[in-house]
Parts: sequence; C-alpha cells; structure tokens
Amino acid sequence: MLCSGAVRCQIFPSPESACRAIALEMKALVERRAAEGRMAVLGLATGRTPLPLYRELVRLHREEGLSFSNVVAFNLDEYFGLLPSHPRSYRTFMREHLFDHIDIRPENAHIPSGNLDPGDIGPHCRAYEALIEACGGIDLQILGIGRTGHIGFNEPGAGRGSRTSLVRLDHMTRTDAAGDFGGADRVPSHAITMGCGTILEARRIILMAWGAAKAGIVSEAFDNPVADEVPASYLQEHPDASVYLDKAAAADLRGHLCVEEKQHVLKD
Ligand code: GLP
Repeated sequence: MLCSGAVRCQIFPSPESACRAIALEMKALVERRAAEGRMAVLGLATGRTPLPLYRELVRLHREEGLSFSNVVAFNLDEYFGLLPSHPRSYRTFMREHLFDHIDIRPENAHIPSGNLDPGDIGPHCRAYEALIEACGGIDLQILGIGRTGHIGFNEPGAGRGSRTSLVRLDHMTRTDAAGDFGGADRVPSHAITMGCGTILEARRIILMAWGAAKAGIVSEAFDNPVADEVPASYLQEHPDASVYLDKAAAADLRGHLCVEEKQHVLKD
C-alpha cells in the first residue's frame, strides 16, 4: 500500500474508478459534516485530471441527492490577467464543470481573483488565506500534478512554506496549456496560487494523476526524497496524503509496495 516514501499510492484500472472512490470519500465527508450541522471545506483543482471526479460529483448530486449546500470550496489558483468571465479562466472552468450543476451556494465557491491591480495582489492573497482559516481550514484538498511537478501553480523551487501569492509559470506549464489558449505565448505568464504551505495545511490531501505523460513526474515526486525542485514531493511529509493513479501514471513507480498494490488491483 505504501510507496518508498510515506505517501499512500493506490492504483486503479481507470481514472473513472479512482474518481468514484474519491467522490465517495467526499460524499461521506460532506454528509458527516451536514449531520454535525457544520460546513465541509473542500480544496478544489482545475485541469483535465479532475474532470471525471466532477462528473461523478454532479451525478451524485443529480441521481443520489448529494447536497453541497453545506460546502465551502476554495480553488487552488487562477490565471493572472484574466477576468472571471474569460472563457479560459478557472472561474469559468469550475462553473462549467461543477459549480453550475450542483447546489453549492455561489458565495461559498471561492477562487483567487486573477484580475487585480498590482497594489491589490498582496492584500487579496492574504485575505484568501484568512478566509480559509476563518472557515476552519481545508478538510480535503484535491490536487492534480503538472509535468513540472507543480501542485496548484507552485513551480519547481517553490518553498515548502510558500503562501498564496503571484507566481511566474514555467515554460513547460505554458506549453501544456497552449492548446487551451491557441499558442504558448498566449497563455498568461503568471497566476495567483495557494502556496505549498497553504496546501499542506489541509487535513487530508488526495493527488490524482492519469496517463503515461504523468508517469515520470509521479515517480520523481514519490519514489525520491523530498525536493524543492518537485513541489508535489512535499506530500511525502503530510500525515494524511494519498496518491490516486491509473495504471499508466503508475508505470514508472519503483516503490515495491506500490507494485504489490498494482498487482493486487490488476488481479481483481
Ligand atoms: C494546471 C493546474 C494544476 C493542475 C495541473 C495539471 O496548470 N494549475 O492545478 O493540476 O496544471 O493539469 P492537467 O490536469 O490538465 O494535466
């Protein structure tokens, strides 16, 4: 069950089967908090990786009555320089894929603003952190991983204690987003992102990765010692972090216990 590092890696036959398991965990959290009369605080991610998860959450809402009326959501990041209504903003992404299809209260769906005057950046980032804290901290943070090893938009070299801030995007990250923007040079050069320190304060973290293109960076992050050059590797130091992979994304993992887990899953 364990990789050579401390992170639990679980390998699933497909992204959909992994996302069913994650969605059930989220459902249990949201319903437990509702029974307690409390809000559930979710940290959410964008990109292609969480799409099957959001489809399953929408299905649970529509077909199984899961309510998000007691959910507060904090997204990881937003491109800098985009209006919330921009077709490629993460605000638009979250509305299209999740928020417009569930009963979360709009005022409880938080995403950093990418549309700020320079003087407002610091106060906005500090206010985002303060709001997370005022809500009691994040119960469950969902993450993808960039091919640079980024979590949120924390690129190689981002410190373990970094906080929500304006960051410059790596060349590889902009290249990976080129298709969305019609060319790498049209991808925003900067973003506002929760810091690594902000992310690591979540009580539970689930990082997802699918497909062969992520296999190399997954192995770098979780087979090797923690390194600033691979911010996702900081998850090894978190007390309750799990990595959910499909078979292709797990293909390069060397941790022997992971291989046993893989064989177990494949046998089933
Ligand atoms: C994006 C996001 C990350 C995401 C990553 C991977 O740029 N800021 O939160 O995890 O890159 O993207 P994808 O899921 O499309 O591979």
